[in-house]
Amino acid sequence: MQKAVIIVAGGSGQRMGAPGPKQFIEIAGKPILMHTLEAFYRWDAGIEIILVLPESQKTTWENLKKTYSFNLPHKIAFGGKERFHSVKNGLGLLSPEVRLVGIHDGVRPFPSKETITACFEKAAEYGAAIPVINVNDSLRKAEGENSVAVNRDAYKLVQTPQCFKKEILAKAYEQQYQAHFTDDASVVEALGYSIQLTEGNPENIKITRPVDLAIAEALMDKTAF
Ligand code: C5P
Repeated sequence: MQKAVIIVAGGSGQRMGAPGPKQFIEIAGKPILMHTLEAFYRWDAGIEIILVLPESQKTTWENLKKTYSFNLPHKIAFGGKERFHSVKNGLGLLSPEVRLVGIHDGVRPFPSKETITACFEKAAEYGAAIPVINVNDSLRKAEGENSVAVNRDAYKLVQTPQCFKKEILAKAYEQQYQAHFTDDASVVEALGYSIQLTEGNPENIKITRPVDLAIAEALMDKTAF
């Protein structure tokens, strides 16, 4: 089945505190976003790649591509107000022959081949699948001034790519935006579909805070990536 990945990098990345969007910060000699696109191209050179960028960053990206001689084929869509709107813009560029779609955070450069494969395979079978990992820390629920311990085994940390049959995803994104839509699974679930869980990989971090950059540099040194 023809596959596509929509790589969302349409946010402002304010938590990083850097002057520009965090996806353009360099790790191991090139911008994070280039590593992310390469991870999918390495997995399947035939995958359609759609990159969602803030419209204001189009020229910056064009210049970076020249600077780093970056030639991986991809289409560009523009970011929207929320992640939801950015994904929706990306969906509009999918080629008609695409049957399965993964949606991936631009600032997650380390999805393993196993993570990507498992997610697309489960989506092909069941319609909707997402990679998760276990919670290692103890977990508490904040309740006003107080907090209460909860069973961490009952929770999972959610990663991307989140993978879907195209027709399900397209239908889900016809819904009105709701504030609890923090990922694609929540959008698809709102239509009544159940979401299959697959195994993610611990290196598949979302680079969010400055400390994540140091972790990402260290992970880059591993030959697996
Ligand atoms: O804000 P957060 O870290 O949860 O964003 C997750 C991903 O969604 C990031 O890759 C970000 O660039 C993307 N995003 C987007 N459009 C927005 C907001 C976030 O593409 N309006």
